[in-house]
Amino acid sequence: MANKAQNGSKLIYYPSEDVIKNAHVQEYDQLYAQSIQDREKFWAEQAENIDWFKPYDKVLDDSAKPFYKWFTGGKINIVHNAIDRHLTTGKRNQLAMIWEGEPGDVRTLSYHALNREVCKFANVLKSMGVKKGDIVTIYMPQILELPIAMLACVKIGAAHSVVYGGFSSDALINRIEDAKSKLIITADGGYRRGKTTQLKEIVNEAIRQCPTIEVCLCVKRTGEEVYMENGRDYWLHDLINLPNASPKCETVEMDSEDSLFILYTSGTTGKPKGVVHTHGGYTVYTSTTHRMVFDVKDYDRWWCAADPGWITGHSYIVYAPLINGSTIMLYEGAPNHPYPNRWWQMVEKYGITILYTSPTAIRGLMRYGETWPQRHDISSLRLLGSVGEPINPEAWRWYHEVIGNGKCPIMDTWWQTETGGFMITPLPITTLKPGSATKPFFGNEMAVVDKEGNAVGPGEEGRLVIKAPWPGMARTILKDPDRYVETYWKEYEKQGWYNAGDSARIDEDGDFWIIGRIDDVIKVSGYRLGTAEIESALVSHADVSEAAAIALPHDLKGNAIYTYAILRQGCEGSRELEKEIKEHVAKEIGPIAKPEKVTFTDSLPKTRSGKIMRRVLKARALGLDEGDLSTLEE
Ligand code: WTA
Repeated sequence: MANKAQNGSKLIYYPSEDVIKNAHVQEYDQLYAQSIQDREKFWAEQAENIDWFKPYDKVLDDSAKPFYKWFTGGKINIVHNAIDRHLTTGKRNQLAMIWEGEPGDVRTLSYHALNREVCKFANVLKSMGVKKGDIVTIYMPQILELPIAMLACVKIGAAHSVVYGGFSSDALINRIEDAKSKLIITADGGYRRGKTTQLKEIVNEAIRQCPTIEVCLCVKRTGEEVYMENGRDYWLHDLINLPNASPKCETVEMDSEDSLFILYTSGTTGKPKGVVHTHGGYTVYTSTTHRMVFDVKDYDRWWCAADPGWITGHSYIVYAPLINGSTIMLYEGAPNHPYPNRWWQMVEKYGITILYTSPTAIRGLMRYGETWPQRHDISSLRLLGSVGEPINPEAWRWYHEVIGNGKCPIMDTWWQTETGGFMITPLPITTLKPGSATKPFFGNEMAVVDKEGNAVGPGEEGRLVIKAPWPGMARTILKDPDRYVETYWKEYEKQGWYNAGDSARIDEDGDFWIIGRIDDVIKVSGYRLGTAEIESALVSHADVSEAAAIALPHDLKGNAIYTYAILRQGCEGSRELEKEIKEHVAKEIGPIAKPEKVTFTDSLPKTRSGKIMRRVLKARALGLDEGDLSTLEE
């Protein structure tokens, strides 16, 4: 059993002896000190766990700061590390993926079978003209063909841009246009809460406005009738069974710094940023963090219950676990469908040993009480993880006691789309504090500072910065390097630090406590949205002339979206209009962006230069002090 101890006012938990005994990493302080002292040596050692077609010349090239390069001169392909190299070992016949659809259908793939499916898919892509350097857009439900499609693109040297299947056609259009994709991969639909989603319809709508798209590959999932355009749209099952879709396909040699994928994420302006990750550094970083933090072993059954359409899914459903040769669990649908025991039933059924999910999911399941998990034998679990937003101590304790039976340490991992992998996290051998992501991972120097860059005192709130480069870092924003510099590196240009956009505290023990975003990004249920995107969706409604969006605390979702709208002349605010505007935003961006409330107002607090002062709206809504109002317009 894990021990807990009272240290001053804080509750500290210790991992159990069982977990500590066989952990890959046995010690933190000394290894951390060494990793900081000689960062390049640390990462060079980790890079030895990776197969290189040609060894790299240099670990870190910092000649064009902040455009750092890692493992330059090396030739690599992440797919060779994730699949090919396992085929000549006993791993070949081990399960790579277990997938369960929401209706209860099950598919499994060994590494051998995964390779076959990826090769066939890759040959289909080649036959459709996909080449090295292309960006393929993927818009799919959570079915096995999603990771297969990602791996198939990368195998032949193309980069993927996965767009979360819950986004609307407008969000999809923006992303296709920016990436200039010629090919899109989708499905007729998927299952969610007993209903089907109509993905192909949304894709059809998007393609009408995206002239770059020449080919649409469609996977049959629901079997519902969909419109297929002759000469443009193809069913995957028709092509994949043709003789040219052979089960063999060469993995293309890539440069360490060649693009691996683009992932769009919300920033402070309406236009989403295409964050670019590359082969070499990302391969080393994600696999090292996954192995050390979750202590992954051959016998583990790893379940990262995120959507592959977000960074968590990219790094820790698909790439890192495959590189480490794990067996991955994937589930298509909602955690509470048809009953709130669905997840626990699957943990028992498949003998899941590590579960990694979001505080929102935990809070959502906690709501149904402990009898649901208690119906199942979930004692196979040995480690738990949390990501995406701060976890409140109450949810932490429930997760620890009820799901982890008091014996599974919880890895509360802080990181971002831009960081590629975990940055601040406990290890299975370090002390835990409910609500704290604890300490920086090896090689990472982090601090909490004020506006000028001075470290704030213990327990004081400040801005979270990363002081040194790490291999998993984003390399740029697609087609907009200036925005990359502006967004992350401008604020602390003098010091050369990365500005994370989060506020945080460090306590007397050096443990980090993340408070939340301080820029115009909102985290709703762990999903990342921009206030600017929500506002532009609001003003695209015919009756709205100006709008503002803020985040207010929410018991279940962490944050909820509250909006303010100034109506056009002659329009009258009403309950019906509020409902209509909410639906409009959900349709423009996706259901996750639906506002909790729309308040009609005659004016919005603005600076003299016309910027909306969201912090004033927030302070008012929470009944707090409005702070410095000197820049407020009359
Ligand atoms: C927040 C998700 C507290 C944070 C991997 C960050 C967290 C943003 C944690 C990035 C955590 C992520 N504790 N907050 N353990 N993990 N966040 O890009 O605000 O979707 O800046 O990446 O999520 O969100 P993104």
